[in-house]
Amino acid sequence: MWLSTAAKGMWPFVVVFVCQLVTSSSATNPCCSYPCQNDGMCMTTGHDTYMCDCSNMDFYGDHCEHPTLMKRIKTWLRPDTETTHYLLVEPKYKWIWNIVNNLTFLSRRIMKVIYMLRADVLDSPPIYNSAHSYVTLDAAFNRSLYSRILPPVPEECPTPMGTKGPKELPDVDLLIKKFFTRTKFLPEPTGSNVLFSYFAQHFTHMFFKTDFQKGPGFQWGNHGVDMSNVYGKDKAAENRLRSFKGGKFKMQLVKGEEYPLPVSKTGAEMVYPKHVREEHKYALGHSLFGLLPGLFVYSTVWMREHNRVCGILAKTHPEWDDERLFQTGKLIILGETIKIVIEDYVQHLSSYNYQLLFVPDVLFGEPFQYQNRIAAEFNHLYHWHPLMPTNFNISGTVYELKDYMFHSELVIKHGFANVLDSMIKQRAGLMSHHNHGPGTLHVLRDSIIHQRQLRFQSLNNYRKRFNLAPYTTFEELTGETVMAAELEKLYHDVDAVEMYVGMIVEKRRHRAMFGSSVIEIGGPNSVKGLMSNYICSPQYWKPSTFGGEVGFDIVNTASMQKLFCQNIKGKCPVVSFRVPDYDENETIETWDGKLPHDEL
Ligand code: HEM
Ligand SMILES: *[C@@H]1O[C@H](CO)[C@@H](O)[C@H](O)[C@H]1NC(C)=O
Ligand SMILES: *[C@@H]1O[C@H](CO)[C@@H](O)[C@H](O)[C@H]1NC(C)=O
Ligand SMILES: *[C@@H]1O[C@H](CO)[C@@H](O)[C@H](O)[C@H]1NC(C)=O
Ligand SMILES: *[C@@H]1O[C@H](CO)[C@@H](O)[C@H](O)[C@H]1NC(C)=O
Repeated sequence: MWLSTAAKGMWPFVVVFVCQLVTSSSATNPCCSYPCQNDGMCMTTGHDTYMCDCSNMDFYGDHCEHPTLMKRIKTWLRPDTETTHYLLVEPKYKWIWNIVNNLTFLSRRIMKVIYMLRADVLDSPPIYNSAHSYVTLDAAFNRSLYSRILPPVPEECPTPMGTKGPKELPDVDLLIKKFFTRTKFLPEPTGSNVLFSYFAQHFTHMFFKTDFQKGPGFQWGNHGVDMSNVYGKDKAAENRLRSFKGGKFKMQLVKGEEYPLPVSKTGAEMVYPKHVREEHKYALGHSLFGLLPGLFVYSTVWMREHNRVCGILAKTHPEWDDERLFQTGKLIILGETIKIVIEDYVQHLSSYNYQLLFVPDVLFGEPFQYQNRIAAEFNHLYHWHPLMPTNFNISGTVYELKDYMFHSELVIKHGFANVLDSMIKQRAGLMSHHNHGPGTLHVLRDSIIHQRQLRFQSLNNYRKRFNLAPYTTFEELTGETVMAAELEKLYHDVDAVEMYVGMIVEKRRHRAMFGSSVIEIGGPNSVKGLMSNYICSPQYWKPSTFGGEVGFDIVNTASMQKLFCQNIKGKCPVVSFRVPDYDENETIETWDGKLPHDEL
């Protein structure tokens, strides 16, 4: 036994020796060219030598290039990601999934495999953050930084992407003008509506919280699904929203419906521009959620749901005080959120015909880490601003961005049910090139600049990290020739294309909302973030955590439809993330294939 361990321990030294003989001498860090394959760890062993550490991997060899026999068999048995995706979304295979969805045992089995395979791709605990281009202890302990999926490109490398591409990356404004700016609204081809866009924004902003004052690598959240988007960032913020009666939020009644209170009545810390009238500055869980009426809608409906749940808990537990009702209500709301995110939201965005499930118990007894860290790359790939249409149409009144930004009161003015109905009926934008509306171009600009400051590796390096084939040509990346030619002029080498820019110009996957990179890189981060939540652990995941069977049942049967319809006055529409008049065979408007001229 000890012999084999010793032999394993010797292995890296053998590799060092070999590599020191084979590398050519050059002044720069030899790891800049990313010589190690299959996520093998590159470490310099002198000024111009390196080793690839393939320990604990399914690969061996000087550059971790050889798969083990087991890995070969696994790869051979497992269909590639494109085939899997095709089987999952293509209508002609729908009948298979209809059967699978009905077989509880089988569909739970599949769900377990999805959870495990997706989560397994990520480092847990994390090993990198943006402060260092190598493994540090700080990456795991210091929670004030986002983690990193891949470490920053070392400062001393000859080009921003290592050794490939130009010494200076293309001008940001030129990129924005050529590839990002919306000239004509491009609708989302799978039929997504604005209710979907706002869900994405409202949900993810509880953990995508960059501390811009400290820098783009810093964050002020809790690295996961903590419901701070509804309850506030900390205890003090939470207390300002509470009534301290029956566990409920303090809310006001307007036309018989509950709404959040104005800031002046709560002392909540909210960010509003000066021109907003005092009574229209509402106190919400997130300081920036006054920004858009859709965020106000979601904040309101979750607060109503919390109060509704507390009412039910108070009936089953007359012995409980305000604090216990509040705390248990919050656990239920968190459970409902994950249920809805997986079974309604991710279900929609995946376009899968397989019905996804939220079943934490399938992971019990499996090697699974109930801890999570938000990666800077995950935040950036979630910049889905093209989803936002240029205008917002509420019951036939069309508002421009400037007229609805910071105007939460429009929701009360038009009525909650009407606004909900409008959000369902209005089509979202295609998350792709030439579709950033004028209101979000400055956000895009900042985020490209931040990605450069954070020294993100190339899109192709991220693709390799997530077991996707790197693109070999620009045409293969974009699936066309016009943008491809222009990108080639700017980046010289397809291995130098930046992560986010690449994701936006990338060709769309068959019947999907995005290209394969957003899906295959976002997917693991999303699944891990949801299923590693503390409430999914065997110690939390039981009825008593949620106030008994009644509360556990609320979690296990939650849906978008119920969330809205149990908390709304008047006629409740069919609540869906897809516009009601969606036709899967429609011919939609796509990019006209023209690029703006060179001059800015
Ligand atoms: C018209 C609607 C929207 C506007 C005006 C808007 C505006 C903004 C602004 C001002 C920022 C701060 C970035 C900075 O200062 O550099 C931001 C960040 C962000 N937005 Fe949006 N946004 C909108 C819609 C969305 C949607 C639909 C999503 C979908 C998920 C989204 C995702 C994000 C993310 C992930 C961040 C980064 C947050 C952070 O790092 O703290 N946004 N947005
Ligand atoms: C699934 O099962 C239910 C009840 O057993 C049945 O009504 C339904 O038709 C089945 N669906 C499919 C697609 O087989
Ligand atoms: C976390 O890392 C940042 C950047 O390196 C540093 O400024 C900060 O002091 C660290 N925080 C802790 C608690 O160590
Ligand atoms: C606004 O939405 C209503 C339906 O809610 C629709 O009848 C109308 O055509 C829309 N107007 C515009 C300009 O999109
Ligand atoms: C779309 O086209 C397919 C094949 O032509 C057809 O089977 C399907 O019913 C159509 N869907 C709609 C919503 O019309």
